[in-house]
Amino acid sequence: MKIALVAKALPDVNTPLLAVLVAAGDVPPSLTSLDAAAGGVVQRAFGSGDFKGKKDETSLLYATGGKAQRILLLGLGKAEEVTRQSLRRAAAVAARRARAMGTGTFALTAVPEARNGLSARDVTQVLGEGAAQGAWAFTELKRPAEDPKPEMQSVDVVVAPREASEAGPGHRTAEAIAAGHRLTRNLQMQPGNICTPSYLADQARQLAERHGFGVTVLDRAGIQKEGMGALLAVAQGSAQEPRFITLEYRAAGDAAPVALIGKGVTFDSGGISIKPAQNMEDMKFDMSGAAAVLGTFEVLGQLKPKLNVVGLIPATENLPSGTAVKPGDVVKSHFGKTIEIVNTDAEGRLILCDALSYVRRHKPAAVLDAATLTGAVVVALGYHAIGLMGNDEALVAEVREAGERAGERCWPLPLWDEYRDLVKSEIADVRNSGGRGAGTIAGGWFLKEFVDGYPWVHLDIAGTAYTEGDGPTQAKGPTAVCVRLFTEFLLRRAGGP
Ligand code: BES
Ligand code: MN
Ligand code: ZN
Repeated sequence: MKIALVAKALPDVNTPLLAVLVAAGDVPPSLTSLDAAAGGVVQRAFGSGDFKGKKDETSLLYATGGKAQRILLLGLGKAEEVTRQSLRRAAAVAARRARAMGTGTFALTAVPEARNGLSARDVTQVLGEGAAQGAWAFTELKRPAEDPKPEMQSVDVVVAPREASEAGPGHRTAEAIAAGHRLTRNLQMQPGNICTPSYLADQARQLAERHGFGVTVLDRAGIQKEGMGALLAVAQGSAQEPRFITLEYRAAGDAAPVALIGKGVTFDSGGISIKPAQNMEDMKFDMSGAAAVLGTFEVLGQLKPKLNVVGLIPATENLPSGTAVKPGDVVKSHFGKTIEIVNTDAEGRLILCDALSYVRRHKPAAVLDAATLTGAVVVALGYHAIGLMGNDEALVAEVREAGERAGERCWPLPLWDEYRDLVKSEIADVRNSGGRGAGTIAGGWFLKEFVDGYPWVHLDIAGTAYTEGDGPTQAKGPTAVCVRLFTEFLLRRAGGP
């Protein structure tokens, strides 16, 4: 879907559907001329009391004149409570509605009365982001329906002519994020028989080709040479070879890079510690961290901010077989510590620990990892927050800030020394699974055992990477979580795009 920036007065916008975000109250004065052109339908919607601008309220109006065939009013709630996220959310709701109607294109604007002091740049960015989120649909593996609703081709984000130049950078950012989002969600959505470790590596190579990134892919032999025994242990049960992918974006000479690490388990059956059949198909989403890293590189390729970024993706399947790793097996990690694998379903931390050790050769300024690591994060935080842990308070705060701006909120969990016992082993240096409590912290503590010499945060996205049902802002399935968060983090570090 293309995002276009249209700098016009509302009555001049020619569109099958004009979605207008308004705050609670009466008809905003800025809609007077549009309403006059449309035959007074807006005034009638408010005047009848049918539409009040409450949060998530919608009203579809058929104009009797003017250039917009339909007007979709969307409520934001109280004007003084409007945020970037509430605008993004309403834009997504609008796009979902437009997608369902099959208009193919639509226009989107937030009236000035409902912007709560946000800049034209911010408003343009979040409207574009929300539209991209809401309009996305995955149809690639289905035969076309008999009466197909057309894909959403484009959205016009409408600002006043005098705002055009201020809105420009917001529009550019939105377009890049939308492209990254799409890439990530499409990858997440691919089933495990298509999206294998080598498929992820091919995607990384294509990205590198497109944008001129450095790319290195280690195959099983290369991974063996590096001594990544933990990644190899997870991979040894599978006929698909593992891959260790490195992408390098350079735009700041030899400055220390930010490293992004994404868990790339292309299917997690649990291995010998096999999972129940119920919903096991969702474990194709266990590469969501990897997909977010790849999507973020798409954003980097488009926006070219001035910093260095390295992306690392350990990619493997986790399957049971005669060659699979067994509970109780002890393996040696890249870092050198030995690991007792008491549960083969705690495989994410095994592949990440080798990446966290390997990343030291890049001398990173900061390392962020994203992983669908624990079901326990859903118990702790549900589906609305990323579980956040780390070894550096300033970096934790910086990532939380980025998440706030991105509308991908993080909530911190402690990695106090007392929790270290969760990963103590009698036979090896560490074990990969703790007892019953604090499952997410156990995962975080395990990773921390392999972090040495750099500030680090771990993002547990098991509750936020995909949804199990349709929601108001997006269809069931992948969310591309962390693409926006990573982007906000990196842009801020670079001092702007
Ligand atoms: N990929 C799963 C975590 C997960 C669960 C992601 C639900 C998305 C939804 C991870 O590899 C896993 O199996 N974790 C185990 C850890 C346990 C064995 C210590 C879990 O959460 O049960
Ligand atoms: Mn698992
Ligand atoms: Zn997993």
